[in-house]
Amino acid sequence: MNPVERLRERERLAELGGGEARLQKQHEQGKLTARERMTRLFDPGTFEEVDKLVTHRCQDFGMEQQIVPGDGVVTGHGRINGRVAYAFAQDFTVFGGSLSETNAAKICKVMDMAVRNGAPVIGLNDSGGARIQEGVVSLGGYSDIFLRNTLASGVVPQISAIMGPCAGGAVYSPAITDFIVMVKQTSYMFVTGPDVIKTVTHEDVTKEDLGGAMTHNEKSGVAHFAVEDDAECLALIRELLSFMPGNNLDDPPRKPTDDPADREDESLDSLVPASPNQPYDMLDLIHTIADDGYFLEVHQHYARNMLVGFARLGGRPVGIVANQPAYLAGTLDINASVKGARFVRFCDAFNIPLITFEDVPGFLPGTVQEYGGIIRHGAKLLYAFAEATVPKITVITRKAYGGAYCVMASKHLRTDFNFAWPSAEIAVMGAEGAVNILYKREIEKATDPAAMRAQKIAEFRERFASPYVAAERGYVDEVILPRTTRAKLVWALATLDHKRDKNPPKKHGNIPL
Ligand code: HXC
Repeated sequence: MNPVERLRERERLAELGGGEARLQKQHEQGKLTARERMTRLFDPGTFEEVDKLVTHRCQDFGMEQQIVPGDGVVTGHGRINGRVAYAFAQDFTVFGGSLSETNAAKICKVMDMAVRNGAPVIGLNDSGGARIQEGVVSLGGYSDIFLRNTLASGVVPQISAIMGPCAGGAVYSPAITDFIVMVKQTSYMFVTGPDVIKTVTHEDVTKEDLGGAMTHNEKSGVAHFAVEDDAECLALIRELLSFMPGNNLDDPPRKPTDDPADREDESLDSLVPASPNQPYDMLDLIHTIADDGYFLEVHQHYARNMLVGFARLGGRPVGIVANQPAYLAGTLDINASVKGARFVRFCDAFNIPLITFEDVPGFLPGTVQEYGGIIRHGAKLLYAFAEATVPKITVITRKAYGGAYCVMASKHLRTDFNFAWPSAEIAVMGAEGAVNILYKREIEKATDPAAMRAQKIAEFRERFASPYVAAERGYVDEVILPRTTRAKLVWALATLDHKRDKNPPKKHGNIPL
Protein backbone atom coordinates (compact mmCIF):
# COMPACT_ATOMS: atom_id res chain seq x y z
CA MET A 1 0.00 0.00 0.00
CA ASN A 2 1.31 3.46 -0.79
CA PRO A 3 1.03 6.19 1.90
CA VAL A 4 -2.20 7.58 0.49
CA GLU A 5 -3.78 4.14 0.38
CA ARG A 6 -2.65 3.47 3.96
CA LEU A 7 -4.35 6.64 5.14
CA ARG A 8 -7.50 5.75 3.20
CA GLU A 9 -7.55 2.28 4.73
CA ARG A 10 -7.17 3.61 8.26
CA GLU A 11 -9.95 6.11 7.65
CA ARG A 12 -12.18 3.42 6.17
CA LEU A 13 -11.76 1.32 9.32
CA ALA A 14 -12.57 4.29 11.53
CA GLU A 15 -15.68 5.08 9.50
CA LEU A 16 -16.83 1.48 9.76
CA GLY A 17 -17.19 1.99 13.55
CA GLY A 18 -18.50 -1.18 15.18
CA GLY A 19 -19.10 -2.80 11.77
CA GLU A 20 -21.91 -3.08 9.24
CA ALA A 21 -24.19 -5.18 11.44
CA ARG A 22 -24.11 -2.77 14.36
CA LEU A 23 -24.53 0.25 12.07
CA GLN A 24 -27.57 -1.43 10.57
CA LYS A 25 -28.98 -2.14 14.05
CA GLN A 26 -28.62 1.53 14.86
CA HIS A 27 -30.69 2.38 11.76
CA GLU A 28 -33.27 -0.28 12.57
CA GLN A 29 -33.83 1.43 15.90
CA GLY A 30 -34.61 4.65 14.04
CA LYS A 31 -31.29 6.20 15.04
CA LEU A 32 -28.68 7.83 12.83
CA THR A 33 -25.05 6.82 13.28
CA ALA A 34 -22.61 9.13 15.07
CA ARG A 35 -21.05 10.38 11.82
CA GLU A 36 -24.43 10.86 10.14
CA ARG A 37 -25.46 12.95 13.14
CA MET A 38 -22.35 15.11 12.90
CA THR A 39 -22.83 15.64 9.17
CA ARG A 40 -26.40 16.84 9.77
CA LEU A 41 -25.53 18.98 12.77
CA PHE A 42 -23.01 21.07 10.86
CA ASP A 43 -23.56 23.14 7.70
CA PRO A 44 -23.21 20.86 4.64
CA GLY A 45 -19.60 19.93 3.91
CA THR A 46 -18.11 21.79 6.89
CA PHE A 47 -17.57 19.01 9.46
CA GLU A 48 -13.89 18.33 10.13
CA GLU A 49 -13.13 15.33 12.31
CA VAL A 50 -10.27 15.28 14.81
CA ASP A 51 -8.72 12.28 16.56
CA LYS A 52 -10.25 9.89 14.03
CA LEU A 53 -7.37 7.44 14.51
CA VAL A 54 -7.18 7.47 18.32
CA THR A 55 -7.38 4.01 19.89
CA HIS A 56 -7.85 2.76 23.44
CA ARG A 57 -4.95 1.38 25.50
CA CYS A 58 -6.80 -1.20 27.57
CA GLN A 59 -5.00 -4.55 27.90
CA ASP A 60 -7.59 -6.33 30.05
CA PHE A 61 -10.49 -8.68 29.22
CA GLY A 62 -9.16 -9.31 25.69
CA MET A 63 -9.58 -5.65 24.79
CA GLU A 64 -6.15 -5.60 23.15
CA GLN A 65 -7.74 -7.73 20.39
CA GLN A 66 -10.57 -5.29 19.83
CA ILE A 67 -9.24 -2.02 18.50
CA VAL A 68 -11.52 0.37 16.60
CA PRO A 69 -9.93 3.62 15.38
CA GLY A 70 -11.82 6.53 16.91
CA ASP A 71 -12.67 4.41 19.97
CA GLY A 72 -16.41 5.02 20.14
CA VAL A 73 -16.71 8.77 19.85
CA VAL A 74 -16.62 11.08 16.83
CA THR A 75 -15.28 14.55 17.62
CA GLY A 76 -14.58 17.67 15.62
CA HIS A 77 -15.64 21.09 14.47
CA GLY A 78 -17.37 22.85 11.62
CA ARG A 79 -19.86 25.62 10.98
CA ILE A 80 -23.43 25.92 12.24
CA ASN A 81 -25.42 28.72 10.58
CA GLY A 82 -22.04 29.90 9.26
CA ARG A 83 -20.39 30.13 12.69
CA VAL A 84 -17.73 27.86 14.20
CA ALA A 85 -18.89 25.19 16.65
CA TYR A 86 -17.39 22.08 18.26
CA ALA A 87 -19.13 18.78 18.91
CA PHE A 88 -18.75 15.18 19.96
CA ALA A 89 -21.02 12.25 19.10
CA GLN A 90 -20.81 9.01 21.03
CA ASP A 91 -20.83 6.03 18.69
CA PHE A 92 -23.02 3.31 20.19
CA THR A 93 -21.75 0.80 17.61
CA VAL A 94 -18.30 0.76 19.27
CA PHE A 95 -18.42 -0.85 22.73
CA GLY A 96 -21.88 0.67 23.21
CA GLY A 97 -20.43 4.18 22.94
CA SER A 98 -18.96 3.57 26.41
CA LEU A 99 -16.52 6.08 27.81
CA SER A 100 -12.87 4.99 27.86
CA GLU A 101 -9.79 6.90 28.93
CA THR A 102 -8.93 7.89 25.35
CA ASN A 103 -12.53 8.48 24.39
CA ALA A 104 -12.85 10.93 27.32
CA ALA A 105 -9.59 12.62 26.29
CA LYS A 106 -11.03 13.20 22.81
CA ILE A 107 -14.13 14.85 24.27
CA CYS A 108 -12.00 16.99 26.59
CA LYS A 109 -9.84 18.04 23.66
CA VAL A 110 -12.75 19.50 21.67
CA MET A 111 -14.17 21.12 24.80
CA ASP A 112 -10.82 22.81 25.45
CA MET A 113 -10.65 23.97 21.83
CA ALA A 114 -14.17 25.37 22.06
CA VAL A 115 -13.45 27.36 25.20
CA ARG A 116 -10.10 28.60 23.89
CA ASN A 117 -11.71 29.75 20.64
CA GLY A 118 -14.99 31.02 22.08
CA ALA A 119 -17.40 28.69 20.30
CA PRO A 120 -20.30 26.49 21.46
CA VAL A 121 -19.92 22.79 22.33
CA ILE A 122 -22.60 20.30 21.40
CA GLY A 123 -22.61 16.81 22.92
CA LEU A 124 -24.57 14.04 21.18
CA ASN A 125 -25.01 11.37 23.85
CA ASP A 126 -25.64 7.71 23.01
CA SER A 127 -23.68 5.55 25.40
CA GLY A 128 -23.77 2.61 27.78
CA GLY A 129 -21.82 4.68 30.32
CA ALA A 130 -18.42 4.02 31.82
CA ARG A 131 -16.40 1.44 29.83
CA ILE A 132 -16.62 -1.43 32.23
CA GLN A 133 -13.28 -2.98 31.14
CA GLU A 134 -11.40 0.20 32.05
CA GLY A 135 -12.79 0.68 35.55
CA VAL A 136 -11.71 3.75 37.46
CA VAL A 137 -9.81 5.14 34.47
CA SER A 138 -13.17 5.62 32.80
CA LEU A 139 -14.62 7.24 35.91
CA GLY A 140 -11.67 9.62 35.88
CA GLY A 141 -12.53 10.45 32.27
CA TYR A 142 -16.06 11.39 33.29
CA SER A 143 -14.74 13.62 36.04
CA ASP A 144 -12.42 15.34 33.54
CA ILE A 145 -15.47 16.09 31.38
CA PHE A 146 -17.59 17.31 34.33
CA LEU A 147 -14.83 19.72 35.34
CA ARG A 148 -14.70 21.13 31.83
CA ASN A 149 -18.49 21.43 31.64
CA THR A 150 -18.39 23.43 34.84
CA LEU A 151 -15.53 25.69 33.81
CA ALA A 152 -17.10 26.28 30.38
CA SER A 153 -20.48 27.15 31.95
CA GLY A 154 -21.24 30.81 31.23
CA VAL A 155 -18.23 31.05 28.89
CA VAL A 156 -19.48 29.18 25.80
CA PRO A 157 -22.99 27.78 25.22
CA GLN A 158 -23.18 24.03 25.86
CA ILE A 159 -26.01 21.96 24.41
CA SER A 160 -26.63 18.26 25.00
CA ALA A 161 -28.70 15.93 22.89
CA ILE A 162 -29.73 12.61 24.37
CA MET A 163 -30.07 10.24 21.41
CA GLY A 164 -29.83 6.85 23.11
CA PRO A 165 -28.90 5.65 26.60
CA CYS A 166 -27.41 8.10 29.09
CA ALA A 167 -27.28 6.49 32.49
CA GLY A 168 -25.47 6.50 35.80
CA GLY A 169 -23.03 9.30 36.47
CA ALA A 170 -22.95 9.99 32.73
CA VAL A 171 -26.10 12.07 33.16
CA TYR A 172 -24.18 14.74 35.00
CA SER A 173 -22.36 16.08 31.98
CA PRO A 174 -25.62 16.98 30.17
CA ALA A 175 -27.08 18.15 33.48
CA ILE A 176 -24.43 20.87 33.77
CA THR A 177 -24.89 22.04 30.18
CA ASP A 178 -27.31 24.82 29.26
CA PHE A 179 -29.96 22.89 27.33
CA ILE A 180 -30.92 19.22 26.97
CA VAL A 181 -32.84 17.89 23.96
CA MET A 182 -34.22 14.34 24.19
CA VAL A 183 -35.41 12.16 21.32
CA LYS A 184 -38.74 10.46 22.03
CA GLN A 185 -38.71 6.64 22.32
CA THR A 186 -34.99 6.16 21.65
CA SER A 187 -33.44 8.09 24.52
CA TYR A 188 -33.47 7.79 28.28
CA MET A 189 -31.63 9.27 31.23
CA PHE A 190 -31.47 8.00 34.80
CA VAL A 191 -29.02 7.78 37.66
CA THR A 192 -30.13 4.25 38.59
CA GLY A 193 -32.03 2.03 36.16
CA PRO A 194 -35.25 0.03 36.57
CA ASP A 195 -33.48 -3.14 37.80
CA VAL A 196 -31.69 -1.41 40.66
CA ILE A 197 -34.85 0.47 41.58
CA LYS A 198 -36.78 -2.81 41.69
CA THR A 199 -34.20 -4.29 44.07
CA VAL A 200 -33.97 -1.31 46.37
CA THR A 201 -37.48 0.17 46.48
CA HIS A 202 -39.51 -2.68 44.90
CA GLU A 203 -40.98 -0.20 42.39
CA ASP A 204 -41.80 -1.48 38.92
CA VAL A 205 -41.03 1.10 36.27
CA THR A 206 -40.10 0.91 32.62
CA LYS A 207 -37.06 2.70 31.17
CA GLU A 208 -39.39 5.01 29.26
CA ASP A 209 -41.47 5.94 32.30
CA LEU A 210 -38.40 6.34 34.46
CA GLY A 211 -36.28 8.44 32.18
CA GLY A 212 -37.78 8.83 28.71
CA ALA A 213 -38.07 12.11 26.85
CA MET A 214 -41.51 13.09 28.14
CA THR A 215 -40.70 12.12 31.72
CA HIS A 216 -37.83 14.56 31.76
CA ASN A 217 -39.70 17.23 29.79
CA GLU A 218 -42.90 17.12 31.84
CA LYS A 219 -42.11 15.73 35.26
CA SER A 220 -38.50 16.32 36.28
CA GLY A 221 -37.70 19.33 34.13
CA VAL A 222 -34.25 17.86 33.47
CA ALA A 223 -34.76 18.19 29.71
CA HIS A 224 -35.82 21.33 27.85
CA PHE A 225 -37.02 19.88 24.55
CA ALA A 226 -38.61 16.62 23.32
CA VAL A 227 -38.32 15.83 19.62
CA GLU A 228 -39.65 13.05 17.40
CA ASP A 229 -36.41 11.82 15.86
CA ASP A 230 -32.70 12.43 15.31
CA ALA A 231 -33.24 14.74 12.32
CA GLU A 232 -35.57 17.00 14.31
CA CYS A 233 -33.14 16.96 17.23
CA LEU A 234 -30.20 18.18 15.14
CA ALA A 235 -32.30 20.80 13.33
CA LEU A 236 -33.52 22.12 16.69
CA ILE A 237 -29.96 22.47 18.04
CA ARG A 238 -29.03 24.51 14.96
CA GLU A 239 -32.10 26.69 15.47
CA LEU A 240 -31.39 27.17 19.19
CA LEU A 241 -27.81 28.24 18.47
CA SER A 242 -29.07 30.94 16.08
CA PHE A 243 -30.16 32.97 19.13
CA MET A 244 -26.81 32.76 20.94
CA PRO A 245 -23.40 34.32 20.63
CA GLY A 246 -20.39 31.98 20.36
CA ASN A 247 -19.22 33.01 23.82
CA ASN A 248 -19.86 35.35 26.74
CA LEU A 249 -17.79 38.19 25.24
CA ASP A 250 -19.78 38.35 22.00
CA ASP A 251 -23.24 39.68 21.29
CA PRO A 252 -25.93 37.39 19.91
CA PRO A 253 -26.25 37.47 16.11
CA ARG A 254 -28.93 39.74 14.65
CA LYS A 255 -31.26 38.51 11.96
CA PRO A 256 -32.60 41.18 9.61
CA THR A 257 -36.37 41.18 9.31
CA ASP A 258 -39.00 42.76 7.06
CA ASP A 259 -41.42 42.85 9.98
CA PRO A 260 -41.90 46.61 10.66
CA ALA A 261 -40.57 47.75 14.04
CA ASP A 262 -43.63 49.98 14.52
CA ARG A 263 -46.19 47.32 13.60
CA GLU A 264 -49.25 47.80 15.80
CA ASP A 265 -51.83 45.16 16.53
CA GLU A 266 -55.27 46.24 17.67
CA SER A 267 -56.14 42.77 18.92
CA LEU A 268 -53.84 43.38 21.89
CA ASP A 269 -56.13 46.14 23.17
CA SER A 270 -58.72 43.49 23.98
CA LEU A 271 -56.44 40.57 24.89
CA VAL A 272 -56.93 40.98 28.64
CA PRO A 273 -60.51 39.90 29.50
CA ALA A 274 -62.86 42.24 31.36
CA SER A 275 -63.08 39.92 34.36
CA PRO A 276 -59.84 39.81 36.37
CA ASN A 277 -60.32 36.10 37.05
CA GLN A 278 -60.68 35.07 33.43
CA PRO A 279 -57.60 33.49 31.85
CA TYR A 280 -56.08 34.33 28.48
CA ASP A 281 -53.11 32.90 26.63
CA MET A 282 -49.89 34.87 27.11
CA LEU A 283 -48.52 33.07 24.04
CA ASP A 284 -50.93 35.16 21.94
CA LEU A 285 -49.16 38.30 23.12
CA ILE A 286 -45.69 36.86 22.54
CA HIS A 287 -46.51 35.68 19.02
CA THR A 288 -48.14 39.01 18.20
CA ILE A 289 -45.18 41.17 19.17
CA ALA A 290 -42.27 38.94 18.04
CA ASP A 291 -40.56 39.37 14.66
CA ASP A 292 -42.55 37.32 12.16
CA GLY A 293 -44.59 35.89 15.05
CA TYR A 294 -41.78 33.48 15.87
CA PHE A 295 -41.16 32.22 19.41
CA LEU A 296 -38.88 29.26 20.20
CA GLU A 297 -40.34 28.03 23.45
CA VAL A 298 -37.95 26.36 25.92
CA HIS A 299 -39.20 23.93 28.60
CA GLN A 300 -42.59 23.92 26.91
CA HIS A 301 -43.97 20.97 28.83
CA TYR A 302 -42.66 21.84 32.31
CA ALA A 303 -44.10 24.32 34.84
CA ARG A 304 -46.51 25.66 32.27
CA ASN A 305 -47.51 28.57 34.51
CA MET A 306 -44.22 30.14 33.41
CA LEU A 307 -43.23 30.65 29.76
CA VAL A 308 -39.59 30.99 28.72
CA GLY A 309 -37.99 31.03 25.29
CA PHE A 310 -36.32 32.98 22.54
CA ALA A 311 -37.68 35.45 20.00
CA ARG A 312 -36.37 38.42 18.02
CA LEU A 313 -37.47 42.01 18.19
CA GLY A 314 -36.33 44.24 15.34
CA GLY A 315 -33.77 41.53 14.51
CA ARG A 316 -32.29 41.38 18.04
CA PRO A 317 -32.49 38.04 19.85
CA VAL A 318 -34.23 38.31 23.22
CA GLY A 319 -35.04 35.90 26.04
CA ILE A 320 -38.70 36.07 27.03
CA VAL A 321 -39.90 35.23 30.54
CA ALA A 322 -43.65 35.39 31.07
CA ASN A 323 -46.33 34.33 33.50
CA GLN A 324 -48.98 32.20 31.82
CA PRO A 325 -52.43 33.12 33.19
CA ALA A 326 -53.93 30.24 31.22
CA TYR A 327 -52.22 27.74 33.56
CA LEU A 328 -52.57 27.77 37.37
CA ALA A 329 -53.64 31.41 36.90
CA GLY A 330 -49.99 32.24 36.22
CA THR A 331 -48.99 31.80 39.88
CA LEU A 332 -45.34 31.35 40.77
CA ASP A 333 -44.60 27.96 42.27
CA ILE A 334 -41.38 26.06 42.92
CA ASN A 335 -40.98 24.63 39.44
CA ALA A 336 -41.90 27.87 37.66
CA SER A 337 -39.41 29.81 39.78
CA VAL A 338 -36.56 27.43 39.07
CA LYS A 339 -37.43 27.25 35.37
CA GLY A 340 -37.47 31.03 35.10
CA ALA A 341 -34.32 31.54 37.16
CA ARG A 342 -32.19 29.19 35.11
CA PHE A 343 -33.33 30.76 31.86
CA VAL A 344 -32.69 34.30 33.14
CA ARG A 345 -29.16 33.30 34.18
CA PHE A 346 -28.47 31.76 30.77
CA CYS A 347 -29.57 34.92 28.97
CA ASP A 348 -27.58 37.13 31.33
CA ALA A 349 -24.45 35.01 30.89
CA PHE A 350 -24.66 35.30 27.10
CA ASN A 351 -25.70 38.95 26.65
CA ILE A 352 -29.24 38.18 25.55
CA PRO A 353 -31.67 40.95 26.62
CA LEU A 354 -34.58 39.89 28.82
CA ILE A 355 -38.20 40.78 28.13
CA THR A 356 -40.62 39.98 30.97
CA PHE A 357 -44.38 39.82 30.50
CA GLU A 358 -46.11 39.88 33.83
CA ASP A 359 -49.53 38.73 34.93
CA VAL A 360 -49.05 37.05 38.29
CA PRO A 361 -51.55 36.88 41.16
CA GLY A 362 -48.79 35.83 43.60
CA PHE A 363 -46.99 32.72 44.82
CA LEU A 364 -48.99 29.48 44.81
CA PRO A 365 -50.26 28.87 48.38
CA GLY A 366 -50.18 25.47 50.12
CA THR A 367 -48.22 23.12 52.35
CA VAL A 368 -46.76 21.32 49.34
CA GLN A 369 -45.14 24.56 48.23
CA GLU A 370 -44.04 25.68 51.68
CA TYR A 371 -42.62 22.26 52.69
CA GLY A 372 -40.99 22.01 49.28
CA GLY A 373 -39.10 25.22 49.93
CA ILE A 374 -40.88 27.85 47.84
CA ILE A 375 -39.02 30.41 49.94
CA ARG A 376 -35.65 29.15 48.71
CA HIS A 377 -36.78 28.41 45.15
CA GLY A 378 -38.71 31.64 44.69
CA ALA A 379 -35.60 33.44 45.87
CA LYS A 380 -33.70 31.94 42.93
CA LEU A 381 -35.86 33.82 40.46
CA LEU A 382 -35.56 37.02 42.45
CA TYR A 383 -31.79 36.61 42.66
CA ALA A 384 -31.46 35.84 38.96
CA PHE A 385 -33.41 38.93 37.87
CA ALA A 386 -31.63 41.15 40.40
CA GLU A 387 -28.16 39.97 39.41
CA ALA A 388 -28.78 40.20 35.63
CA THR A 389 -26.99 43.11 33.95
CA VAL A 390 -28.26 42.58 30.40
CA PRO A 391 -30.93 44.96 29.08
CA LYS A 392 -34.12 44.22 31.02
CA ILE A 393 -37.62 45.32 30.01
CA THR A 394 -40.86 44.44 31.78
CA VAL A 395 -44.44 44.75 30.55
CA ILE A 396 -47.17 44.33 33.17
CA THR A 397 -50.30 43.26 31.34
CA ARG A 398 -52.56 42.63 34.30
CA LYS A 399 -51.76 41.39 37.80
CA ALA A 400 -48.55 42.25 39.61
CA TYR A 401 -49.33 41.38 43.19
CA GLY A 402 -47.27 41.10 46.35
CA GLY A 403 -43.86 39.48 46.38
CA ALA A 404 -44.40 38.35 42.82
CA TYR A 405 -44.48 42.04 41.77
CA CYS A 406 -41.01 42.48 43.26
CA VAL A 407 -39.63 39.26 41.81
CA MET A 408 -40.77 39.63 38.19
CA ALA A 409 -38.13 42.14 37.08
CA SER A 410 -39.65 45.09 38.90
CA LYS A 411 -38.10 48.55 38.53
CA HIS A 412 -36.37 48.08 41.87
CA LEU A 413 -34.23 45.23 40.46
CA ARG A 414 -32.44 47.54 37.99
CA THR A 415 -34.88 46.91 35.16
CA ASP A 416 -34.31 49.44 32.39
CA PHE A 417 -37.85 49.92 31.14
CA ASN A 418 -41.03 49.03 33.03
CA PHE A 419 -44.16 49.39 30.95
CA ALA A 420 -47.71 48.70 32.07
CA TRP A 421 -50.88 48.25 30.11
CA PRO A 422 -53.92 50.25 31.30
CA SER A 423 -55.34 46.91 32.52
CA ALA A 424 -52.46 46.47 35.00
CA GLU A 425 -53.29 45.87 38.65
CA ILE A 426 -50.27 46.58 40.83
CA ALA A 427 -50.84 46.15 44.55
CA VAL A 428 -49.88 44.18 47.64
CA MET A 429 -52.77 41.83 46.99
CA GLY A 430 -56.07 41.54 45.10
CA ALA A 431 -58.97 43.78 46.14
CA GLU A 432 -61.02 41.01 47.78
CA GLY A 433 -58.18 39.73 49.92
CA ALA A 434 -57.18 43.25 50.90
CA VAL A 435 -60.70 44.21 51.96
CA ASN A 436 -61.10 41.00 53.98
CA ILE A 437 -58.08 42.00 56.04
CA LEU A 438 -58.43 45.78 56.23
CA TYR A 439 -62.19 46.02 56.86
CA LYS A 440 -62.90 42.73 58.61
CA ARG A 441 -64.38 44.34 61.75
CA GLU A 442 -66.36 47.07 59.98
CA ILE A 443 -67.90 44.52 57.62
CA GLU A 444 -68.87 42.23 60.52
CA LYS A 445 -70.57 45.11 62.32
CA ALA A 446 -72.29 46.57 59.24
CA THR A 447 -76.07 46.34 58.88
CA ASP A 448 -75.59 45.02 55.35
CA PRO A 449 -72.15 43.29 55.38
CA ALA A 450 -72.39 42.13 51.75
CA ALA A 451 -73.10 45.63 50.46
CA MET A 452 -70.34 47.14 52.53
CA ARG A 453 -67.88 44.53 51.36
CA ALA A 454 -68.78 45.15 47.72
CA GLN A 455 -68.40 48.90 48.21
CA LYS A 456 -64.97 48.55 49.86
CA ILE A 457 -63.79 46.20 47.13
CA ALA A 458 -64.89 48.70 44.48
CA GLU A 459 -63.08 51.51 46.29
CA PHE A 460 -59.90 49.48 46.66
CA ARG A 461 -59.98 48.42 43.04
CA GLU A 462 -60.46 51.99 41.88
CA ARG A 463 -57.47 53.22 43.89
CA PHE A 464 -55.01 50.34 43.74
CA ALA A 465 -55.97 47.83 41.03
CA SER A 466 -54.46 49.99 38.34
CA PRO A 467 -51.03 50.96 37.04
CA TYR A 468 -51.37 54.55 38.20
CA VAL A 469 -50.03 54.46 41.76
CA ALA A 470 -46.89 52.77 40.41
CA ALA A 471 -46.73 55.23 37.50
CA GLU A 472 -47.05 58.18 39.90
CA ARG A 473 -44.01 56.86 41.75
CA GLY A 474 -42.01 56.16 38.58
CA TYR A 475 -41.97 52.42 39.28
CA VAL A 476 -43.66 52.16 35.91
CA ASP A 477 -41.97 54.36 33.31
CA GLU A 478 -44.91 54.51 30.95
CA VAL A 479 -48.45 53.21 30.72
CA ILE A 480 -48.71 52.09 27.10
CA LEU A 481 -51.49 51.16 24.74
CA PRO A 482 -51.29 47.38 24.31
CA ARG A 483 -51.30 47.70 20.53
CA THR A 484 -48.03 49.65 20.66
CA THR A 485 -46.14 47.04 22.68
CA ARG A 486 -43.92 45.83 19.84
CA ALA A 487 -42.91 49.35 18.82
CA LYS A 488 -42.16 50.30 22.43
CA LEU A 489 -40.04 47.19 22.97
CA VAL A 490 -38.06 47.51 19.73
CA TRP A 491 -37.20 51.14 20.47
CA ALA A 492 -36.38 50.45 24.12
CA LEU A 493 -34.00 47.68 23.04
CA ALA A 494 -32.34 50.00 20.53
CA THR A 495 -31.62 52.51 23.31
CA LEU A 496 -30.03 49.74 25.34
CA ASP A 497 -27.64 48.49 22.64
CA HIS A 498 -24.63 49.84 24.49
CA LYS A 499 -25.84 49.24 28.02
CA ARG A 500 -23.04 48.54 30.46
CA ASP A 501 -23.85 47.55 34.03
CA LYS A 502 -21.95 45.40 36.46
CA ASN A 503 -22.13 43.73 39.84
CA PRO A 504 -19.67 44.29 42.71
CA PRO A 505 -16.42 42.30 42.36
CA LYS A 506 -16.68 38.92 44.06
CA LYS A 507 -15.55 35.33 43.61
CA HIS A 508 -19.15 34.34 42.98
CA GLY A 509 -22.49 35.02 44.58
CA ASN A 510 -24.33 32.49 46.72
CA ILE A 511 -27.62 31.92 44.88
CA PRO A 512 -30.00 30.01 47.18
CA LEU A 513 -29.59 26.58 45.54
C1 HXC B 1 -18.39 -1.65 27.76
C2 HXC B 1 -20.46 -1.84 26.83
C3 HXC B 1 -21.02 -1.02 27.84
C4 HXC B 1 -20.15 -0.54 28.83
C5 HXC B 1 -22.58 -1.59 26.51
N1 HXC B 1 -21.48 -2.17 26.04
N2 HXC B 1 -22.35 -0.90 27.62
N3 HXC B 1 -19.16 -2.13 26.80
N4 HXC B 1 -18.84 -0.86 28.75
N5 HXC B 1 -20.60 0.25 29.79
C6 HXC B 1 -21.34 -2.99 24.85
C7 HXC B 1 -22.06 -4.31 24.99
O1 HXC B 1 -21.19 -5.23 25.57
C8 HXC B 1 -22.36 -4.64 23.55
O2 HXC B 1 -21.20 -5.13 22.94
C9 HXC B 1 -22.63 -3.31 22.93
O3 HXC B 1 -22.05 -2.33 23.81
C10 HXC B 1 -24.10 -3.00 22.81
O4 HXC B 1 -24.73 -3.25 24.06
P1 HXC B 1 -26.05 -4.11 24.17
O5 HXC B 1 -26.20 -4.42 25.61
O6 HXC B 1 -26.04 -5.23 23.20
O7 HXC B 1 -27.12 -3.05 23.70
P2 HXC B 1 -28.59 -2.82 24.22
O8 HXC B 1 -29.31 -4.13 24.33
O9 HXC B 1 -29.18 -1.79 23.35
O10 HXC B 1 -28.45 -2.25 25.71
C11 HXC B 1 -27.86 -1.00 25.93
C12 HXC B 1 -27.57 -0.82 27.42
C13 HXC B 1 -26.73 -1.99 27.97
C14 HXC B 1 -28.90 -0.70 28.19
C15 HXC B 1 -26.84 0.52 27.57
O11 HXC B 1 -25.64 -2.18 27.11
C16 HXC B 1 -26.23 -1.76 29.35
O12 HXC B 1 -26.98 -1.90 30.33
N6 HXC B 1 -24.94 -1.43 29.44
C17 HXC B 1 -24.29 -1.21 30.72
C18 HXC B 1 -24.78 0.05 31.35
C19 HXC B 1 -24.04 0.35 32.61
O13 HXC B 1 -24.35 -0.21 33.69
N7 HXC B 1 -23.01 1.18 32.49
C20 HXC B 1 -22.26 1.64 33.59
C21 HXC B 1 -23.13 2.71 34.26
S1 HXC B 1 -22.30 3.45 35.58
P3 HXC B 1 -21.26 -6.13 21.70
O14 HXC B 1 -19.83 -6.48 21.44
O15 HXC B 1 -22.11 -7.28 22.10
O16 HXC B 1 -21.86 -5.34 20.58
C22 HXC B 1 -21.54 4.69 34.84
C23 HXC B 1 -20.71 5.46 35.78
C24 HXC B 1 -20.40 6.80 35.22
O17 HXC B 1 -21.62 4.94 33.72
C25 HXC B 1 -19.67 7.49 36.29
C26 HXC B 1 -19.63 8.95 36.11
C27 HXC B 1 -19.46 9.61 37.43
